[in-house]
Amino acid sequence: MTTLQRIQPEVNAYQFSFDEKLLGEMREAYASSLLPIFKSSRLIECFKGGKSFRFEIEENKQKYFLVSYGEAPLMWISNNSLDAYGMFERFFDSLNIKEEVKKLVDFDKEITMYCGFFVVGNHLDKEAWHVDYSNGANAYTLLTPLFELDKRHGHLLYRNEEESEPRRYAYKVGKAVLVGDHLLHTTEIYPETSEIRVLVSLTFGTDKLQYWDILKETIGGQSKYMVLPCGHVKDTCECLNKLSKTNRFKKLRPAVKLSPFRNPKEGPKTPMTITRNTLVVQAKEQVSADLQGDVAILNLKNSVYYGVDAVGPRIWHLIREPKSVSEILDALLSEYEVERECCEKDLLAFLEKLSKEGLIEIRDEKVS
Ligand SMILES: [Fe+2]
Ligand SMILES: [Zn+2]
Repeated sequence: MTTLQRIQPEVNAYQFSFDEKLLGEMREAYASSLLPIFKSSRLIECFKGGKSFRFEIEENKQKYFLVSYGEAPLMWISNNSLDAYGMFERFFDSLNIKEEVKKLVDFDKEITMYCGFFVVGNHLDKEAWHVDYSNGANAYTLLTPLFELDKRHGHLLYRNEEESEPRRYAYKVGKAVLVGDHLLHTTEIYPETSEIRVLVSLTFGTDKLQYWDILKETIGGQSKYMVLPCGHVKDTCECLNKLSKTNRFKKLRPAVKLSPFRNPKEGPKTPMTITRNTLVVQAKEQVSADLQGDVAILNLKNSVYYGVDAVGPRIWHLIREPKSVSEILDALLSEYEVERECCEKDLLAFLEKLSKEGLIEIRDEKVS
């Protein structure tokens, strides 16, 4: 097992050494499918900088996706097929660092590699200080040179927020650095060189999809082909949909928010008991509007506004026409990943709130 060492106390970045032979497959792929296209007019433009670029590359049956780092002449060229991902993944596996990474992140079963990149450029005239991940991402970016850097090439500058003086990490073949959340860093400024500066980069970390919201800020737009924490390819996996439905359902409890502009003369109604067989429908004396997934309801009887969020809007739409509670329940169960009992309890509580506020009419269904 490879051991990781912090590059500096209190800094969320680690380094380790590895056998440079492990770079072999990537060196060949770089030489056969990327180096030849760098002479094309499109790539010459990218190397100049001053504009941002995003486009797909296919050369020698290898698929990549190029994203410039803003307008900097620094191109992140990511795997854009299972094939190319597989090459970076074999490199990741061969580094044998997963067990060590497990000590640094919250994970369930395994460390997931999200994406692999060649990072290329031949000069940089502005520093671009940034953090790779917001706090709590539970992920790292690995950086290692594919070839020894030219002595004029820029290395990595980093600092703790509190620290004013930047420190320097020097890239070396057979040595890699892992940059984690919260670490401020930039590539050093360097003059135009005839040699292209090539780094290999891998993003990896937690296999828990709950961190995707933080992770996607950084890695969501960096590449087209990407493996999500759950281990499935982005845009083909259903886990995220399920997760967002579960998360949304958890919000059902406080789904009705009362406005502070309540008219005190209009007290809330005494609620009728709602059961599975109760028929419910939106009250007539209200108007409602959809607001980016939430619903705003104005009760015309007491001029009170209500905001409904989470699963509330879905329920509100379902009861435009009279529906029995069990019909609503069945609809929700088919759309959300939620236990029946839990769903029923929340649904009844929500409908009782609506009823108490006079926003729905309820009647007992005649069971036929
Ligand atoms: Fe970075
Ligand atoms: Zn998935």
